[in-house]
Amino acid sequence: MNKQKKLYIETYGCQMNFSDSEIVGSIMKENNYQSTKNSEEADVIFINTCSIRDNAEQRVRKRLGELNALKKQKPHLKIGVLGCMAERLKEKLLEEEKSVDIIVGPDAYRDLPQLMAEAESGQKAINVILSADETYADITPVKIDENKISAFISIMRGCQNFCSYCVVPFTRGKERSRDPETIIQEAKDLFEKGYREITLLGQNVNSYSFEGRENYHFPNLLADVAAVNPLLRVRFATSHPKDISDDLIKTIAAYPNICKAIHLPVQSGSTNMLTKMNRKYTREWYLERISTIKKHMPECAISTDIIAGFCDETEDDHADTLSIMQEVGYDYAFMFKYSERPDTVAAKKFEDNISEEIKSKRLTEIINLQRQLSHHSNKADIGKVFEVLVEGTSKKSKEQLSGRNSQNKVVVFPKENYKVGDYVQVKITDCTTATLVGEAV
Ligand code: 5AD
Ligand code: SF4
Repeated sequence: MNKQKKLYIETYGCQMNFSDSEIVGSIMKENNYQSTKNSEEADVIFINTCSIRDNAEQRVRKRLGELNALKKQKPHLKIGVLGCMAERLKEKLLEEEKSVDIIVGPDAYRDLPQLMAEAESGQKAINVILSADETYADITPVKIDENKISAFISIMRGCQNFCSYCVVPFTRGKERSRDPETIIQEAKDLFEKGYREITLLGQNVNSYSFEGRENYHFPNLLADVAAVNPLLRVRFATSHPKDISDDLIKTIAAYPNICKAIHLPVQSGSTNMLTKMNRKYTREWYLERISTIKKHMPECAISTDIIAGFCDETEDDHADTLSIMQEVGYDYAFMFKYSERPDTVAAKKFEDNISEEIKSKRLTEIINLQRQLSHHSNKADIGKVFEVLVEGTSKKSKEQLSGRNSQNKVVVFPKENYKVGDYVQVKITDCTTATLVGEAV
């Protein structure tokens, strides 16, 4: 038997990528590679990459440069590039990045042992074939995250919404959903191992629909996972506003253990921009969905993604984004400058005509407004009591514990005799823009 080789995986980008890295860890473990948390002792380093914005790719390029230097000291080290950048750049990446031995797209991870064997024999190895049905349903992910309380379950892959700015449909291929039985079983196994919170993941979870089962959609799956155990919290990400149905809203409202936090990327508050982005909804339609959510669940937190400076965006369009943020009163937001991505409709048909300076100015206004909204939302929680799932000790003090409430806000409170994994009723006494502070009641 060969000595076990050590594998170090570095993950960039979204939660989906972190979940994929766990699948990769599992495939490699079956093939005699042991995961390590120390890159220095690794025989193999995989970089799981993101292509969503140019700066995400630049970060990976910089890292590959560093690894190139490391490889000079450790000639036996093998470097693999996985995920979206592998898919987007294919062979080109082998030509441009001398340090790279293996290129593997997001649907080809089962081929990794084979590709590793090729690389070990000194060849360059590549598989970037996209699949119409790969969901890795039978692979039990190797958990990388330490806290042992929360875990991801990938429920669907790919995206075919083709928002005009977005590279994901090109890097992750067609939408396909995983067999619900395997998802529910994974949730049960995780609960038995002590996990208390799972996040169902997909590029667009509300269009979940397993081919083998008629009339079984995301609300059905969510209800079935929530029924695994009332002590198992269930979250999901990410949702497209066009698919957030009344049925789904009612399901979230019906189960106390389905978290009252919805991430609903708006991208822009201007219907003109939304049309140009091919988002398939208007400002009014989005606001109607928000008011339906709030009608059924007044306590529900709402977070979003926003892009500043998309092609042809006027000051009026930008003002519409600021006003929709205020109207919804987002609890949290991820905010970005538009970054043109190759192959997308926007790259092919529209001009990236908002200057860097204006993009930055608009993004700053958006970020400043969101800071106020988050602070306002946190201040409104002072005096309320929340059930908090304890995740660990607070970064700032060992005497404090840190966890989250159903709304996904971080809550810090004195430790007493509570421990990780406990549900604790906490009364909020103070807050910052990012954290709620309280004490157990
Ligand atoms: N430029 C900037 N932001 C983008 N996003 C997706 N594509 C781009 C792009 N080309 C943002 C969207 C999406 C989030 C994951 O990333 O807001 O919801
Ligand atoms: Fe994830 Fe999207 Fe980045 Fe791919 S491009 S890693 S799907 S965020």
